[in-house]
Amino acid sequence: MTKSTDLKARKTAAVANGVGARGIYVAKAENAEVWDVDGKRYIDFAAGIAVLNTGHRHPTVMAAVARQAEAFTHTCFHVTPYESYVALAERLNTLTPGNFPKKTLFLNSGAEAVENAIKIARYHTKRSAVIAFSGGFHGRTHMTMALTGKVMPYKRGFGPFPAEIYHAEFPQPYRAITTDRALADIDRLFHGDVDPKSVAAIIIEPVQGEGGFNVAPTDFLRALRKLCDEHGIILIADEVQGGIARTGKMFSIEHAGVVPDLVTMAKGLGGGFPLSAVTGRASIMDAAHPGGLGGTYGGNPICIAAAHAVLDVIEAEGLCARATHVGQQMRTHLEALARKTPCIGDVRGLGAMVAFELVKDPKTKEPDAELTAAILAHAEKRGLILLSCGTSANVVRLLAPLTIQDSVLSEGLAILSAAVVDAYGVDAARAVA
Ligand SMILES: Cc1ncc(COP(=O)(O)O)c(C=O)c1O
Repeated sequence: MTKSTDLKARKTAAVANGVGARGIYVAKAENAEVWDVDGKRYIDFAAGIAVLNTGHRHPTVMAAVARQAEAFTHTCFHVTPYESYVALAERLNTLTPGNFPKKTLFLNSGAEAVENAIKIARYHTKRSAVIAFSGGFHGRTHMTMALTGKVMPYKRGFGPFPAEIYHAEFPQPYRAITTDRALADIDRLFHGDVDPKSVAAIIIEPVQGEGGFNVAPTDFLRALRKLCDEHGIILIADEVQGGIARTGKMFSIEHAGVVPDLVTMAKGLGGGFPLSAVTGRASIMDAAHPGGLGGTYGGNPICIAAAHAVLDVIEAEGLCARATHVGQQMRTHLEALARKTPCIGDVRGLGAMVAFELVKDPKTKEPDAELTAAILAHAEKRGLILLSCGTSANVVRLLAPLTIQDSVLSEGLAILSAAVVDAYGVDAARAVA
């Protein structure tokens, strides 16, 4: 029995079933590579689900964390605050889109950031309704489950959910959901389900993560901004997965030139340490009374130190430009693969947030979740960690660290191609000439 198989058995016996876990038990990791407990090496195209934009154990991040651990590790900002929290808020107030006074609040997870953005929007507007999107993912707490537009594995069995949440269609050009159709769907909501004057916020991932790396078209995001302005609705950009240089800009919504009122971020911000934030217009952020927001650990000093280092690394190593480069390499590779492999129906994404969608037939576009799972399994066997996504679990997403060396990136992409061929070849009858 290998150490990995032993650990899998122990996990099954000791850990709650709802905590899904893959079979690679990690022993150590460095930049874009991971070694498991049996000594097998993997290239990491998952990056802890878009967390390690600066790679595993970036030396600058490690040094900042070690320095902070020497000074103090926790006080609770509400009890005895510290400068680094304030300084990081100042940095994010400057880095987020919008040339107006902003304020920031730190929390621990992406879900908590979204929860707080909704709390703030409701408090400020004195309205209760929220519009989110089909295929969207915002977390696993009750409010964020309610906002999520993907039933499995996130919502089944966990209801009832908070009321006053409405879902509109998210544009998906590959599936003929155009900007006009998606806007018409919001119009339908406004006429049939909820008065726009009761809507506190519209929350959108400018690039859907778990929903399948669907990129919101620029004209759609601009139209949302206009709708929000017309009706006094707060526009929240959920940048938890797409933010922090991942798409080639600090925040993915910047590609559209649209300025949201509030931005939620997490994942890449802490470089592997749990930190999330809400940043937005000072007038909105300041609505809630003192003590109404926050928590024991939000903005923990170790995580704040890591985040300062992450922002330093992004600047010093030009990681926005690097994301564009990594994304181009991935796209070129995948587009060539798609030309030879008809099961790849679509290649899409933004910057280094790249995905391909697997279909049984390029004409019917019927999702192929089995083939997707087989590709992940073959990739894992060959030493590449991949993730799937999409409401039909038929999209493979690539989220390599932005710091990945070119040679490791090429090696990973070659393994990916081999895994697609392995999996596709398993059932040759699926091939469409
Ligand atoms: C867009 C988005 N929002 C929120 C979340 C929830 O973040 P967390 O898992 O840190 O609670 C995620 C996680 O994948 C996400 O992708």
